[in-house]
Amino acid sequence: MSDEPSQLSDFNERFEDPAEDPLFVFDEDDPNRADVFARKELLKVGHVPESARIVGRDDEIEAIAAELRPLVRGDPPNNVMIYGKTGTGKSLVARHVTERARRAAESNGVSVGTVYVDCAQYNTQTRVARTVTRSLNESGRTDLNIPRAGIGSGEYYDYLWEILNTAYESVVIILDEVDRLNDDDILMQLSRARESGKADCHLGVIAVSNKIEYRDQLNERVKSSLREEEFVFQPYDANQLRDIMKHRRDAFYDGVVSDDVIPLTAALAAQEHGDARKAIEILRHAGELAERSNTDVVTEEHVRDAQEWAEIDRFEELLRGSTTQVKFILYSLALLTDESSSDDGFSTSKIYERYQETTQKVEAKVLSEHRVYELLKEQAFLGVVESTRTGGGRGEGSYLEHRLVQDTGIVLKSVLRDSRLKDLA
Ligand SMILES: Nc1ncnc2c1ncn2[C@@H]1O[C@H](COP(=O)(O)OP(=O)(O)O)[C@@H](O)[C@H]1O
Ligand SMILES: [Mg+2]
Repeated sequence: MSDEPSQLSDFNERFEDPAEDPLFVFDEDDPNRADVFARKELLKVGHVPESARIVGRDDEIEAIAAELRPLVRGDPPNNVMIYGKTGTGKSLVARHVTERARRAAESNGVSVGTVYVDCAQYNTQTRVARTVTRSLNESGRTDLNIPRAGIGSGEYYDYLWEILNTAYESVVIILDEVDRLNDDDILMQLSRARESGKADCHLGVIAVSNKIEYRDQLNERVKSSLREEEFVFQPYDANQLRDIMKHRRDAFYDGVVSDDVIPLTAALAAQEHGDARKAIEILRHAGELAERSNTDVVTEEHVRDAQEWAEIDRFEELLRGSTTQVKFILYSLALLTDESSSDDGFSTSKIYERYQETTQKVEAKVLSEHRVYELLKEQAFLGVVESTRTGGGRGEGSYLEHRLVQDTGIVLKSVLRDSRLKDLA
C-alpha cells in the first residue's frame, strides 16, 4: 500500500475557463463579502509561529535545547521524550527547538538533518522508515533514488544508514504522537543505530506522546536503549491561554474580534484542561462562521457555536481510524447513558445487548460479545471510554464497567456523521 497522495487525474469536468467555475468564483468587489481574516495561517494548528508568539514555555524550551545542544558542536544529542495532554505545546516546542538547533549547528559548520513524523498518520514501521528516509534524502545531499513502494522497512533502513553516513553529522527525528505507532521496534532501531555500528552519524530522537501511560507500555529493551530525558508539559491556565490567544489576534483584521471574544475562547478551552489547540481551533472556526454569515465581527455566539463544533471535531479525531463497528458500540453506549439517571457505567453485556439491536436495525454484521469487549478496552486506551472494575457484590464476580468520557451529545453527533449510522438518527 502506498501513502502517496493520489491525483484526481480522471477528472473530466471542463469549463471554458476554469476561473469561471460557478462553484468557485471569488468576487473581490462583492460588497457583501466580509473581511475577517488578515493572516489566517496564524490559526492553523500545525503552523509553527515565530518565537515572539510562543508564550509561557521558556523553561521547557531551555530544557529541551540543553539536550540537543551538544550537536551544535558536533557531539551526540540526548534523546528526549515529551509527555503532556493535548494542546500543551509539545509539538510546537519540539519543532521550534529542533529548528533552532539546526540553524545554530549549521552556522557552526555542522550539518544537521531534521525530520518530523506524525505517527498517527505513519503508524507502521515501514511507513515511518519510508518517511524518514525519503525526507532526509530529498534535501538534496544524496542522489539516491528511494522507491515509494515495493520495499520493506529493512531496505528503507539500509538506505537510511547510507544517508546518515554520507550526508549528515547529526540528525534529529521528531516522532510525534508516538503512542499511535503499532510497534515500538522503530524506536529500538533508531536508538541502536549508532552502537550497532550501522550509522556513524549522531541521531537524536524526540518522541512526543499525549499519553503519560505510554512510558509504562514501552518495552524495557526500548527504554534502556533510548535512555531518554523525560519532560512533562502541564496544561495551561486560563491566563496563559489568554496570553497565547492575544498573540494570535492579528490573524484578524482590526476590529473584527471584540474585546470579550479572546477571554471567552481562553475560558472555554480552560474548562476541560488548558488546551491551546482547542482555543486556537475555536477562534478560527468562530471567524469562519462570521465569514460565512457575511459579517465582519466575531461575536460571542460565533464562539459558542465554534466550541461545539470543536468538540465534535476533536472527538472525530480521537476516532480517526476506528471502524464503523466501534461507532455502533459507542452509539449504543451513548443511548444507554442518555436513558440512565445515574452516573454508573455499563457492563459489557448490557452494552452488547444494545449493540445487537443497533446493528440489526441497520443490518450490519454483528460481532461477538468478546470482540465488543476487546474493542471497548481499545477505546479505553484511546481515552474515549473509561473502564473501571467493579468491586463485585455478593455472589457476583467483579467485572468491568464502561462509561463515555465525552458528553453524549457530542458522541452522538459525531458518530452519526458516519454514513452507515445516518439511518439511526
Ligand atoms: N506556549 C504557546 N505559545 C503559543 N502558542 C502555543 C503554545 N502552546 C501551544 N500553542 C499553539 O496551540 C496549538 C496546539 O499546540 P501543540 O504544540 O500542537 O500541542 P500538543 O502537541 O501538545 O498537542 C498550536 O497551534 C500551537 O501553536
Ligand atoms: Mg502534538
